[in-house]
Amino acid sequence: MSIGKPNPSSFIVLGIETSCDETGVALYDLAHGLLAHELFSQVDMHRVYGGVVPELASRDHVRRVVPLTRAVLQAAGITLQELAGIAYTAGPGLIGALLVGAGVAQGLAVGLGLPAVGVHHMEAHLLAPQLEPNPPAFPFLALLVSGGHTLLVDVEGLGRYRVLGESLDDAVGEAFDKTAKLLGLGYPGGPAVEALARQGDPQRFRFPRPMTDRPGLDFSFSGLKTYTATTVRAHAAEPGAGADIARAFSDAVVDTFVIKCRRALKLTGRATLVVAGGVSANRALRAGLDALGQALSVRMCYPALAFCTDNGAMVAYAGCLRLAAGARDDSAFAVRPRWSLEDLVAP
Ligand code: KG4
Ligand code: ZN
Repeated sequence: MSIGKPNPSSFIVLGIETSCDETGVALYDLAHGLLAHELFSQVDMHRVYGGVVPELASRDHVRRVVPLTRAVLQAAGITLQELAGIAYTAGPGLIGALLVGAGVAQGLAVGLGLPAVGVHHMEAHLLAPQLEPNPPAFPFLALLVSGGHTLLVDVEGLGRYRVLGESLDDAVGEAFDKTAKLLGLGYPGGPAVEALARQGDPQRFRFPRPMTDRPGLDFSFSGLKTYTATTVRAHAAEPGAGADIARAFSDAVVDTFVIKCRRALKLTGRATLVVAGGVSANRALRAGLDALGQALSVRMCYPALAFCTDNGAMVAYAGCLRLAAGARDDSAFAVRPRWSLEDLVAP
């Protein structure tokens, strides 16, 4: 899709996201914002396997990334020669998938004589709300909730991150996906569990709120998954049980985040909470956190729904900020399947 047309004062960055099962490509202009973005989701391909098959993901990124790059250039009405630099997700993620984006980005950069920069996928998620009108100002607290990560991060500025809490086992998105599987809802599970939960009776089951009865800001979702599995086995034959279980699971997740975010906001004194990553699309979670924000007079900021899950726009944006500040990475092999946000530095 096309969003605008640049002018000569532009600093336009091509962003490429290939860390998992979505090929995302976008153009972000420091002067004029997001120019164009395209996404190809591989979910239909992985659905039959019940989850992402890494080798198939890599091969499909190879197929999609160049056509999507052409599409964003055409949508924005610009040529490769008008780019100021190229950004790609360098990690964390599936190594083969990451290498596709890194290889294409570095190849283009060498061919065009442009700088390239590798972007941290969770930094890109964290910055996605900055693409919205009236974006959050630093410093803020961030809750990052995706298929691979669950993090509470104190954010002082670009590249200045302190991880206050994280999941000790499954990420929350993974817990949604596993719950969906147990309920026979298929893959990816988050949106399906959300829709079913809306029809459920909140009084029928009460699931535990993991790790909320002890101090600290870490999370754990594997016990909740086991609790869900046991409840599904015990009640599967009863009418409406699926929706009621989805509701109990969803309520437990939302309560857990509300409790931990309240704690983290009190600890840090931050006046803004940014919530990003695939699970930030969940309306029940947003409602729970919005109520917390109102109670504590804390401003809540989310990405647009299209930019909660993986996308190229957030990578183009994060890369644009870093490239404009002089950051460079000149090796396509510097991808990092595991990579802590705390390893980043301000550009
Ligand atoms: O950020 P993302 O696209 O990929 C990673 O970086 O992992 O997040 C994907 C995760 C999946 O687990 C998916 O089930 C979950 O986000 N998700 C949701 C919703 N939409 C996506 N979970 C709950 N409710 C949703 N509406
Ligand atoms: Zn992601």
